[in-house]
Amino acid sequence: MSFKLKTILGVGLIQLILLSILVYNSLQYLKKSNQEQFLQRADTTAHLIATMTSDALVALDLATLDALVSQTLLNKDVLYLRIIHTNGKTLAQGGHKDALTKPFHKDATIDQAMHDGIFHAQSDIRISDHSLGQVQIGLDIGVYAQLMTQARKRMLGVAATEIIFVALFGYLLGYLLTKQLTAIQSGAKEVAKGDFGHTIPVKGKDELADTAISFNKMSVALKEFAEELKEAKDKAEARQVRAETILQSAVSSIHAGVLIVNENNETVLTNQSLKDFWDTTSLSLEELISMSKDNKALRAQRPIISLFEEADKYVRWTEVHEGDQYVLISRYKIDIGGFIITMTDVSSMYEAEKREKDLQRNLLQSQKLEALGTLAGGIAHEINTPVQYIGDNLHFLKSSVEQLAEAFSLYHALVQNLKEGEHAQQAEQCLNKYEEVEVDYLLEESVTAAEESINGVKQVSNIVHAMKEFSHPANKAKMAIDLNHVIERTSIVCKNEWKHHAELIFNFDENMPEVPAFEGEMNQVFLNLIVNAAHAIADKGGRDNTITITTSYDADHAYIEIKDTGSGVPDKIKDRIFEPFFTTKDVGKGSGQGLAICHDAIVNKHDGEIEVSSQENIGTTFKITLPRHTANKAPKTPNTGDDHA
Ligand SMILES: Nc1ncnc2c1ncn2[C@@H]1O[C@H](COP(=O)(O)OP(=O)(O)OP(=O)(O)O)[C@@H](O)[C@H]1O
Ligand SMILES: [Mg+2]
Repeated sequence: MSFKLKTILGVGLIQLILLSILVYNSLQYLKKSNQEQFLQRADTTAHLIATMTSDALVALDLATLDALVSQTLLNKDVLYLRIIHTNGKTLAQGGHKDALTKPFHKDATIDQAMHDGIFHAQSDIRISDHSLGQVQIGLDIGVYAQLMTQARKRMLGVAATEIIFVALFGYLLGYLLTKQLTAIQSGAKEVAKGDFGHTIPVKGKDELADTAISFNKMSVALKEFAEELKEAKDKAEARQVRAETILQSAVSSIHAGVLIVNENNETVLTNQSLKDFWDTTSLSLEELISMSKDNKALRAQRPIISLFEEADKYVRWTEVHEGDQYVLISRYKIDIGGFIITMTDVSSMYEAEKREKDLQRNLLQSQKLEALGTLAGGIAHEINTPVQYIGDNLHFLKSSVEQLAEAFSLYHALVQNLKEGEHAQQAEQCLNKYEEVEVDYLLEESVTAAEESINGVKQVSNIVHAMKEFSHPANKAKMAIDLNHVIERTSIVCKNEWKHHAELIFNFDENMPEVPAFEGEMNQVFLNLIVNAAHAIADKGGRDNTITITTSYDADHAYIEIKDTGSGVPDKIKDRIFEPFFTTKDVGKGSGQGLAICHDAIVNKHDGEIEVSSQENIGTTFKITLPRHTANKAPKTPNTGDDHA
């Protein structure tokens, strides 16, 4: 309901209430005074007639009484008149017949006369204190009622007119009052719509004008404030855009994968490196995360996923193996919810570390061989000289003994001839001594001993030579080498390892061509394989064990098979035996490097292959394939050994 309407209704209602009270009171007052006037008039009229009839009544002059009655009834408001004697007898009457037939009851008030419209009044006819009779008169109250109706109508008409005026005035007042308010209201609407600074016209100098001025001031102040706010907002937005751009660029430029997730596990920011990590699957990151919740297998496959569920730790670093990559993952909890995940591919670090380990191992190996070579060279030198002159002396002794034997046989024949002559006794002594010391036997055995010693010295010389060659190969570059010779020589060096457990059988192709290879590396390969075979046989135990080394070739390749009758490689470790540092042997007996070195030498350095086939408790065969012609291609980068066996 508008203010204007409220004003009109309010003023109208007050006016109505006041007017109603006024009209009611006035009508009541009018009614009362008219009634009193009417009662007084009725009383006076009855009394007057009683006075006028007293003389005629005393004289019982009925004609006069009738004339008086007729005279009185000429008054329009007198409806009937009756004059009664003290004895109750009606002396004269006239007027309203109905009223005259009914018994007379005096009315005390107008209200009592209302039921028949006649006011019944009476007055005693007296002379002195003596009652002669009674006047009964009926007065028409229609005049009174008409008077009252007229008075009521007029009052109500005045009241209605006043109400109309008041309503008009109220409307006018409401209009004047609300005119400024309406202007303020529409101004406020404009401001609410965002038209800050909107002003309204100010009229007059009253309180509403003051309100309009205050409104205008407020609107201008709001405009200034809004402008300041917008400026601050623009600046803040520009700063935010800048910060976001810097963040986005920083995140994009990082080599590591970055993923920022909000508190609802929704991706906020990622970079290309991260997407590359997930390229292996056609699922989106969100799908992966939601699937992973109840998918253990997937979690095991992509361990990064578990990072999404562990929210208790603030920072967490994990290293996982993702496909072919080694990934270092960090999970950093954000204070306001969510977290940042970084994924760094550390595969190259791993590779470098592995290469370094290989290098170190090779270095150690070559240092060991170097030292052994130097030592063996020294020993060979030291042993060679005495062996040389022991050999020479043995040869000398052998030929001396042989010559002595010849000389002795001549002497023996001579002494035989002297047995009959003058030197018979001396000859007898010589022959006895000859028999006693068994000269023939000694001479014979001395030659055999010398021959055996010469063989022994030859063997010593061979071993020393083999050791020197083995540990200090003549060529460090790739050269055409005689594999049969290399294998033979290596088996001499490690004879002590196998001779107590097995027989070594060479099944060589005598026409084996020379093959381009690093001699030192091949020494190492055959040594490791023969020693492994010997260990496997020692593990299994038993008799009649053999290590058979077979060589063969075709147009492009040379093949070497080293077959043993040892314990065999259990299936469950077959995939691992080429791994560096994998060993099943006790500490001190094996370090797990032998086959890793073989693999590296054959596959990476010679472009060849090495395969293993084995049956538990039956034996193992390592088969090496070497290209007979060096290919002109870049060297292979070492791998983790996934193409083993
Ligand atoms: N001929 C074989 N028969 C049975 N098992 C073998 C044979 N060769 C190697 N293995 C198994 O492979 C493992 C790895 O061999 P590798 O030569 O690499 O290391 P190692 O012999 O244990 O130690 P290292 O050679 O460094 O002294 C061995 O521990 C052994 O279990
Ligand atoms: Mg070994």
